[in-house]
Amino acid sequence: MPVRRDEVRNVEQLGVRASQLPTARRQSNATTRARPFDTLVLGRYRLGERLGAGSFGTVWQARDDHLEREVAVKVVPRERIMEARFEREARAAARLSHPAIVTLYEAAADDEAAYLVSELVRGATLGALLDAGRFSDRDIVAIGIALCDALAYAHSQGIVHRDVKPSNILVPDQPASASYPAKVTDFGVARVLGGDSLTATGDVVGTAAYMAPEQAAGRPAGAAADLYTLALVCYEALTGVNPIAPGPSGHRAARLGAHLPPLRRQRRDLPRALGQGIDLALRPRPRERGTIEDFKRAMSSGFSELRDVPGVVEGPWRPRPGRATRREEARPGDGVQPGARAALGAHRRDVVGPPGAVDPDAVAESRAPPRWQERAIACACMALLAAWLARRILGPPSVAPAVVALLAAGFVLVLPRLGFVAVISALATAAALRGHAGEAVIILVGAVVPMSVLLRKGVAWPLAAGAPALGAVGLAGAWPAFAACARSAWQRAALGLAGWVWLLLATPLSGAALYLPAPAGLPQHSVWSSSAHETVHHVLVPLARSGALAGAPVWALAAVALPYLVKRRSFALDAVRVAGWTAVVVSATELAMHAAGAGSALSAPRTAVIGAVAAAVVALCPSAAAAWRQRSRSNEPQAGIP
Ligand SMILES: Nc1ncnc2c1ncn2[C@@H]1O[C@H](COP(=O)(O)OP(=O)(O)OP(=O)(O)O)[C@@H](O)[C@H]1O
Ligand SMILES: [Mg+2]
Repeated sequence: MPVRRDEVRNVEQLGVRASQLPTARRQSNATTRARPFDTLVLGRYRLGERLGAGSFGTVWQARDDHLEREVAVKVVPRERIMEARFEREARAAARLSHPAIVTLYEAAADDEAAYLVSELVRGATLGALLDAGRFSDRDIVAIGIALCDALAYAHSQGIVHRDVKPSNILVPDQPASASYPAKVTDFGVARVLGGDSLTATGDVVGTAAYMAPEQAAGRPAGAAADLYTLALVCYEALTGVNPIAPGPSGHRAARLGAHLPPLRRQRRDLPRALGQGIDLALRPRPRERGTIEDFKRAMSSGFSELRDVPGVVEGPWRPRPGRATRREEARPGDGVQPGARAALGAHRRDVVGPPGAVDPDAVAESRAPPRWQERAIACACMALLAAWLARRILGPPSVAPAVVALLAAGFVLVLPRLGFVAVISALATAAALRGHAGEAVIILVGAVVPMSVLLRKGVAWPLAAGAPALGAVGLAGAWPAFAACARSAWQRAALGLAGWVWLLLATPLSGAALYLPAPAGLPQHSVWSSSAHETVHHVLVPLARSGALAGAPVWALAAVALPYLVKRRSFALDAVRVAGWTAVVVSATELAMHAAGAGSALSAPRTAVIGAVAAAVVALCPSAAAAWRQRSRSNEPQAGIP
């Protein structure tokens, strides 16, 4: 938007201290409420619609009676301004004239409040738009490039922003030029406004989640600090994660000054130069960050390679537990004007993301079933296990297996950990009381395995029962593919391993070869089932010594590896990779078992074939679904920043 110098002169001509500025006829409480165009401030601005509020004050749309135009007025309680700086900083900021900078028209104060009058931007903040929908990578980089120009220009005028963050970047509904799709606002305001963000020395200004390390430490923040925060905003917009806002402020402070994870660790599909440019600008030491020109060059160099399809990564890119996102920093005032939300949010869709790998854990996280589904599956597994144990182990049932299953599922639904422990204890006790102390021991040993490898993930403890359940219908070989649906690598490994162990333990209990053949020399059920001692010596110890446990790490690794292979971008490629994975898992299991002296892993070749096919189908289902979704979405219209 062209800048009108005659308006800027209002501030430049302020030759008096803010406290001496002409006091407007105004009504009290202008900082908090106004009836449309009733409240007059500074003798000329009629406050209208409330646009939003920040940590210092409220921003109103207003009408300038003198120049008969719409403006934005930030009203700040008088006590929040740094009077010594107000006039000097505001005058400097008002001198800025750039299409990617929101022009400050006037800064003045009266007895109760200070007013920052600026160009009205009809649109929304970058923060609100990132929350509302998704920019394409190209949109984000275009905004970053425009802001490079704005900051470089301001720095050439000797002005540092000190508070670059998504809520201070406004995206107009109708940008004046395609080269400048966004404008940075609140230039110099961080130094004008005091209050909570200042330390005792009065030196720390800015927003904690978007602060260069030197700024956070209270050292002087120069151009390099703006570069850092701009890079941080771009990093967050491209990955969905603010790497310096992982949670409690103490943790956040600890991260300030640390090297941040490289951008391409999260988004390996992005151009190398772009990743390097952002990583460089995020170096903790200001002198190592290069210049804004370097940053702009890096951003521009990969521009043509960037996809213009909205959507950062497929599905919600969720920060790992313990990390906070920009949303955590969002304030109620970070509003989107209704028109802007409709105009911009409507065309930003969740679609399959650009090619290239992303962090497999994050992808697995985004692909994992919703938590309610996870709990429902856990309940189903617990119910199956309880019903099976009640029927097969406890002999002629005194309570119907269906009732046992329902009770077990109910317990796990309400209290996953306690429910699991209670159900297992009850079943083991019942087994012991019925003279099956040996079976009670096997039940308890089986329960301890998932509890110890998935210590903090109680809801997953019953899931390993899925492996013997699959084994009962000849599909045990598909278990590593199911285990690969878990959120983190550790959970995948733990489930792969626990599933194998449960298959192993289920063999003597059921007397059937669910996947593995019964170990040679295993005594008859009647020999050991009544004695815990006999069970340990004749079942558990021989099982452990047989080398059959050698398959457990293979299944653990297989479950960890699968999300790295199924990228959901090309179904054909995924199918080839999954076929390879299946072949490797089956042969590695065999090899491991032979090497450990346990003989063949498979009770029958048919089991291997059916298991492998089932595993491949399970592994490919999400990829097929993604291909189908992508095809149906490719028919929808797309749009981005013009
Ligand atoms: N020039 C403007 N034109 C249109 N809307 C604006 C303008 N300036 C601010 N706003 C709106 O007012 C809201 C509040 O802005 P404000 O600067 O007070 O808060 P903030 O940037 O979220 O936080 P902080 O107080 O830390 O700067 C913004 O989120 C934006 O929606
Ligand atoms: Mg602001």
